[in-house]
Amino acid sequence: MPYTSVMSFPKGFFWGAATASYQVEGGIENCDWAEAAREGRVPVCGAACEHYARYESDFDIAKSLGHNCHRLSVEWARIEPEEGKFDAKEIEHYRKVLMALRARGLEPFVTVWHFTLPLWFARTGGFERKDAPEIFARYCGHVARELGDLCAHFATMNEAMPFSSNGWRRGTWAPFKSWPGIEMALSGVPGSMPDMKKDTSFRNIYLYFRVIKNLIAAHNAAYREMKRAQPSLDVGLVHQVILFHDDGRLKHRVLAAVLNWHWTHYFMSRVAKQCDSIGVNYYLHKKFGDTRQYSKTDMNWDIYPEGIEEALVMLKRYGKPLYVSEAGIADEKDVNRASYIRELVYAMERARERGADLRGYMYWSLLDNYEWSHGFDKRFGLVAIDYATQTRTIRQSAYDYARLIKEKST
Ligand code: BGC
Repeated sequence: MPYTSVMSFPKGFFWGAATASYQVEGGIENCDWAEAAREGRVPVCGAACEHYARYESDFDIAKSLGHNCHRLSVEWARIEPEEGKFDAKEIEHYRKVLMALRARGLEPFVTVWHFTLPLWFARTGGFERKDAPEIFARYCGHVARELGDLCAHFATMNEAMPFSSNGWRRGTWAPFKSWPGIEMALSGVPGSMPDMKKDTSFRNIYLYFRVIKNLIAAHNAAYREMKRAQPSLDVGLVHQVILFHDDGRLKHRVLAAVLNWHWTHYFMSRVAKQCDSIGVNYYLHKKFGDTRQYSKTDMNWDIYPEGIEEALVMLKRYGKPLYVSEAGIADEKDVNRASYIRELVYAMERARERGADLRGYMYWSLLDNYEWSHGFDKRFGLVAIDYATQTRTIRQSAYDYARLIKEKST
């Protein structure tokens, strides 16, 4: 029997969808991912969804679907194209974007950095650099000073753990560094990536931990800098929970606990004090000892929306307001998306009932977009994009989500 919910979300709960600059804007050539595409390591992003020019009509769609918030990121390589030099024109662009959201009654949630690095930073070592925390904090402080009057909610960074793990352990994302034998060791772990040219060495084990340490310091320094710029801002970060759980057998319980510690609590316990709120992204779970056959998304990930309940409860211990900053499904045929969203929302209600202070949900993603090393084939959007013509088509599931928002807001 599927769970049916009777409780409502409180007034003022945020409902919307999310995007990220590199994945939708188009025309960003001075970052590490664009360079990796030029080297033939990842698909070319090019014009993407041309959202840089089309943001107003895209926000019209979000508004028409009953959203009252929107999560986006600003592009570091646009704002700081050279070390220490900030581009006033690009700030002006993002000010217009934020004003366009506000004019439509969509509360902005801005992520200051979502994976892609300016070339000058990536080429000089990126987050391996000793002074990376100060460099990052300087950039975040600038964004807070320039945009903080138009946006109340900021996340310094998106998903430090997948960024480090894919970049310095699996080698499937820039800068493509991997550990010897890692694919075999992680073969049971969800979220495998396509095969690609990698730089494999034992030194990357050290670099992986160094990058995580630097990201922790970078967030903490950026938080202080942003609060100095605008003390009233809500500043947090976005963490992706992979839910490791088990069938109750002792060895599986221990395994799940160790992996949850490694993936979530090691990082979160070192940054949570410097967070006014926490964004939670949820896509993946791994249940040890589980023999159930799951239906799969187009990413070949288990369809397991109910896992978001435990993911949220897991973060309750940090005592901060929570936002689901991403959760969604790649589903080109749009056959599973509506029920996936509904099950997610029911599970969020159960998490709220269990004390998680959840304040909003942003579906990933508003638009089909560039899915990193998979390119444009994987379609997460509430809105389908025809990349040849840039035509937008609202999927049926987007209307179902709109109905659900209405149902849950009254
Ligand atoms: C990232 C997005 C990505 C999505 C789906 C999240 O980890 O923040 O950029 O597109 O997952 O893979």
